[in-house]
Amino acid sequence: MKIAIDGPAAAGKTTLGKRLAHALGFLFVPTGAMYRAAALAHHRGLALEDMDITVGEDGRVFLNGEDVTNLLSNPELDELSSRLAADARVRARLVELQRRIAAGRDVVMEGRDIGTVVLPDAELKIFLWATLEERARRRQREQGGTFAEVLEAIRRRDERDSTRSCAPLRPAPDAVVLDTTGKDPDEVLKLVLKLVEERRARLAS
Ligand code: DC
Repeated sequence: MKIAIDGPAAAGKTTLGKRLAHALGFLFVPTGAMYRAAALAHHRGLALEDMDITVGEDGRVFLNGEDVTNLLSNPELDELSSRLAADARVRARLVELQRRIAAGRDVVMEGRDIGTVVLPDAELKIFLWATLEERARRRQREQGGTFAEVLEAIRRRDERDSTRSCAPLRPAPDAVVLDTTGKDPDEVLKLVLKLVEERRARLAS
Protein backbone atom coordinates (compact mmCIF):
# COMPACT_ATOMS: atom_id res chain seq x y z
CA MET A 1 0.00 0.00 0.00
CA LYS A 2 1.22 3.49 -0.83
CA ILE A 3 0.06 6.54 1.10
CA ALA A 4 0.70 10.05 -0.23
CA ILE A 5 0.62 13.08 2.08
CA ASP A 6 0.80 16.46 0.36
CA GLY A 7 0.19 19.99 1.57
CA PRO A 8 1.70 23.43 2.14
CA ALA A 9 4.69 24.26 4.36
CA ALA A 10 4.38 23.50 8.07
CA ALA A 11 1.01 21.73 7.71
CA GLY A 12 2.29 18.81 9.83
CA LYS A 13 3.09 16.39 6.98
CA THR A 14 6.32 15.10 8.53
CA THR A 15 4.85 14.72 12.03
CA LEU A 16 1.86 12.79 10.65
CA GLY A 17 3.92 10.81 8.11
CA LYS A 18 6.45 9.58 10.65
CA ARG A 19 3.82 8.51 13.18
CA LEU A 20 1.58 6.92 10.55
CA ALA A 21 4.48 4.94 9.05
CA HIS A 22 5.50 3.80 12.53
CA ALA A 23 1.94 2.69 13.39
CA LEU A 24 1.61 0.71 10.13
CA GLY A 25 5.19 -0.62 9.90
CA PHE A 26 5.71 1.19 6.54
CA LEU A 27 8.81 3.06 5.32
CA PHE A 28 8.52 6.84 5.78
CA VAL A 29 9.87 8.93 2.88
CA PRO A 30 10.11 12.68 3.60
CA THR A 31 10.58 14.15 0.13
CA GLY A 32 10.71 17.70 1.57
CA ALA A 33 13.87 16.62 3.39
CA MET A 34 15.18 15.18 0.09
CA TYR A 35 14.74 18.62 -1.59
CA ARG A 36 16.48 20.16 1.42
CA ALA A 37 19.37 17.68 1.05
CA ALA A 38 19.55 18.62 -2.66
CA ALA A 39 19.74 22.28 -1.62
CA LEU A 40 22.55 21.44 0.81
CA ALA A 41 24.37 19.57 -1.98
CA HIS A 42 23.93 22.60 -4.25
CA HIS A 43 25.27 24.88 -1.50
CA ARG A 44 28.31 22.57 -1.18
CA GLY A 45 28.94 22.87 -4.93
CA LEU A 46 27.98 19.27 -5.83
CA ALA A 47 26.76 18.68 -9.39
CA LEU A 48 23.28 17.16 -9.81
CA GLU A 49 24.77 14.02 -11.38
CA ASP A 50 27.04 13.52 -8.35
CA MET A 51 24.21 13.79 -5.85
CA ASP A 52 22.84 10.56 -4.37
CA ILE A 53 20.08 10.93 -1.77
CA THR A 54 18.74 7.96 0.17
CA VAL A 55 16.29 7.50 3.03
CA GLY A 56 16.79 5.28 6.09
CA GLU A 57 14.87 4.35 9.23
CA ASP A 58 12.55 6.99 10.77
CA GLY A 59 12.87 9.29 7.76
CA ARG A 60 16.59 9.91 8.13
CA VAL A 61 18.14 11.34 4.95
CA PHE A 62 21.59 10.55 3.56
CA LEU A 63 23.53 12.65 1.05
CA ASN A 64 26.20 10.52 -0.65
CA GLY A 65 26.22 8.25 2.41
CA GLU A 66 26.42 11.03 5.04
CA ASP A 67 23.49 11.33 7.47
CA VAL A 68 22.52 15.00 6.96
CA THR A 69 19.11 14.85 8.73
CA ASN A 70 20.11 17.22 11.53
CA LEU A 71 21.43 19.84 9.08
CA LEU A 72 18.19 20.29 7.15
CA SER A 73 15.79 22.32 9.32
CA ASN A 74 16.68 26.01 9.17
CA PRO A 75 15.28 29.12 7.45
CA GLU A 76 18.12 29.22 4.86
CA LEU A 77 17.33 25.72 3.57
CA ASP A 78 13.55 26.45 3.74
CA GLU A 79 14.15 29.17 1.17
CA LEU A 80 16.90 27.55 -0.93
CA SER A 81 15.04 24.21 -1.24
CA SER A 82 11.86 25.97 -2.38
CA ARG A 83 13.79 27.87 -5.06
CA LEU A 84 15.68 24.77 -6.22
CA ALA A 85 12.43 22.77 -6.32
CA ALA A 86 11.18 24.95 -9.20
CA ASP A 87 14.03 23.58 -11.40
CA ALA A 88 12.70 20.85 -13.73
CA ARG A 89 16.08 19.02 -13.84
CA VAL A 90 16.26 18.80 -10.05
CA ARG A 91 12.67 17.55 -9.88
CA ALA A 92 13.25 14.91 -12.56
CA ARG A 93 16.25 13.55 -10.62
CA LEU A 94 14.42 13.51 -7.27
CA VAL A 95 11.21 12.02 -8.65
CA GLU A 96 13.30 9.19 -10.14
CA LEU A 97 14.98 8.56 -6.76
CA GLN A 98 11.61 8.72 -4.94
CA ARG A 99 9.92 6.22 -7.27
CA ARG A 100 12.89 3.88 -6.93
CA ILE A 101 12.66 4.04 -3.12
CA ALA A 102 8.91 3.32 -3.19
CA ALA A 103 9.03 0.48 -5.74
CA GLY A 104 7.63 -2.80 -4.43
CA ARG A 105 7.17 -1.75 -0.80
CA ASP A 106 4.66 -0.18 1.57
CA VAL A 107 5.42 3.52 2.00
CA VAL A 108 4.11 6.71 3.51
CA MET A 109 5.54 9.51 1.35
CA GLU A 110 5.11 13.21 2.13
CA GLY A 111 5.69 16.22 -0.14
CA ARG A 112 3.96 18.56 -2.59
CA ASP A 113 3.47 16.43 -5.72
CA ILE A 114 3.27 12.88 -4.37
CA GLY A 115 -0.41 12.27 -5.17
CA THR A 116 -0.27 14.18 -8.46
CA VAL A 117 3.13 13.18 -9.95
CA VAL A 118 5.34 10.81 -7.95
CA LEU A 119 2.77 8.17 -6.92
CA PRO A 120 -0.41 8.91 -8.90
CA ASP A 121 -1.62 5.34 -8.16
CA ALA A 122 -1.27 5.66 -4.37
CA GLU A 123 -4.12 3.83 -2.63
CA LEU A 124 -4.66 6.71 -0.19
CA LYS A 125 -3.96 10.40 -0.82
CA ILE A 126 -4.19 12.96 1.96
CA PHE A 127 -3.96 16.71 1.40
CA LEU A 128 -3.05 18.19 4.79
CA TRP A 129 -4.03 21.78 5.34
CA ALA A 130 -4.10 24.39 8.14
CA THR A 131 -4.49 28.18 8.13
CA LEU A 132 -1.38 30.26 7.42
CA GLU A 133 -1.50 31.66 10.97
CA GLU A 134 -1.61 28.23 12.58
CA ARG A 135 1.23 26.96 10.40
CA ALA A 136 3.32 30.03 11.26
CA ARG A 137 2.71 29.41 14.98
CA ARG A 138 3.84 25.77 14.62
CA ARG A 139 6.97 26.70 12.65
CA GLN A 140 7.84 29.51 15.08
CA ARG A 141 7.74 27.00 17.96
CA GLU A 142 10.25 24.77 16.09
CA GLN A 143 12.60 27.36 14.60
CA GLY A 144 12.15 30.57 16.68
CA GLY A 145 12.18 34.04 15.01
CA THR A 146 9.36 36.58 15.18
CA PHE A 147 5.81 35.56 14.25
CA ALA A 148 5.67 38.17 11.46
CA GLU A 149 8.95 36.95 9.90
CA VAL A 150 7.97 33.28 10.02
CA LEU A 151 4.50 33.99 8.60
CA GLU A 152 5.94 36.01 5.72
CA ALA A 153 8.54 33.30 4.90
CA ILE A 154 5.83 30.60 4.79
CA ARG A 155 3.50 32.80 2.71
CA ARG A 156 6.29 33.43 0.16
CA ARG A 157 7.18 29.74 -0.01
CA ASP A 158 3.52 28.67 -0.41
CA GLU A 159 3.15 31.11 -3.27
CA ARG A 160 6.30 29.89 -5.03
CA ASP A 161 5.48 26.19 -4.46
CA SER A 162 1.91 26.64 -5.76
CA THR A 163 2.58 28.81 -8.81
CA ARG A 164 5.70 27.19 -10.33
CA SER A 165 5.09 25.68 -13.76
CA CYS A 166 6.61 22.28 -12.91
CA ALA A 167 4.53 20.06 -10.55
CA PRO A 168 2.94 22.88 -8.50
CA LEU A 169 1.42 22.17 -5.10
CA ARG A 170 -2.25 21.23 -5.50
CA PRO A 171 -4.51 18.47 -4.18
CA ALA A 172 -4.91 15.43 -6.45
CA PRO A 173 -8.55 15.14 -7.59
CA ASP A 174 -8.90 11.95 -5.52
CA ALA A 175 -7.20 13.30 -2.37
CA VAL A 176 -8.95 13.56 1.00
CA VAL A 177 -8.46 17.15 2.21
CA LEU A 178 -7.89 17.33 5.98
CA ASP A 179 -7.96 20.68 7.76
CA THR A 180 -5.75 20.29 10.85
CA THR A 181 -6.35 23.80 12.23
CA GLY A 182 -6.97 23.44 15.97
CA LYS A 183 -6.30 19.67 15.92
CA ASP A 184 -3.42 18.05 17.78
CA PRO A 185 -1.16 15.38 16.16
CA ASP A 186 -2.92 12.51 17.99
CA GLU A 187 -6.31 13.53 16.61
CA VAL A 188 -4.95 13.83 13.07
CA LEU A 189 -3.23 10.42 13.30
CA LYS A 190 -6.46 8.79 14.54
CA LEU A 191 -8.45 10.28 11.66
CA VAL A 192 -5.94 9.07 9.08
CA LEU A 193 -5.67 5.57 10.58
CA LYS A 194 -9.44 5.34 10.19
CA LEU A 195 -9.13 6.32 6.52
CA VAL A 196 -6.43 3.65 6.05
CA GLU A 197 -8.74 0.99 7.55
CA GLU A 198 -11.63 2.08 5.30
CA ARG A 199 -9.37 1.99 2.25
CA ARG A 200 -8.03 -1.45 3.15
CA ALA A 201 -11.54 -2.80 3.63
CA ARG A 202 -12.60 -1.39 0.25
CA LEU A 203 -9.52 -2.86 -1.48
CA ALA A 204 -10.18 -6.29 0.09
CA SER A 205 -13.86 -6.41 -0.96
O1 DC B 1 8.15 20.19 3.08
P1 DC B 1 9.41 21.00 3.17
O2 DC B 1 9.15 22.38 3.72
O3 DC B 1 10.49 20.30 3.94
O4 DC B 1 9.94 21.14 1.66
C1 DC B 1 11.01 22.00 1.32
C2 DC B 1 10.76 22.57 -0.08
O5 DC B 1 10.89 21.52 -1.04
C3 DC B 1 9.37 23.15 -0.29
O6 DC B 1 9.35 24.57 -0.17
C4 DC B 1 8.97 22.74 -1.68
C5 DC B 1 9.89 21.63 -2.05
N1 DC B 1 9.23 20.34 -2.24
C6 DC B 1 8.69 20.08 -3.47
O7 DC B 1 8.70 20.95 -4.35
N2 DC B 1 8.17 18.84 -3.74
C7 DC B 1 8.13 17.89 -2.79
N3 DC B 1 7.62 16.70 -3.10
C8 DC B 1 8.64 18.15 -1.50
C9 DC B 1 9.17 19.41 -1.25
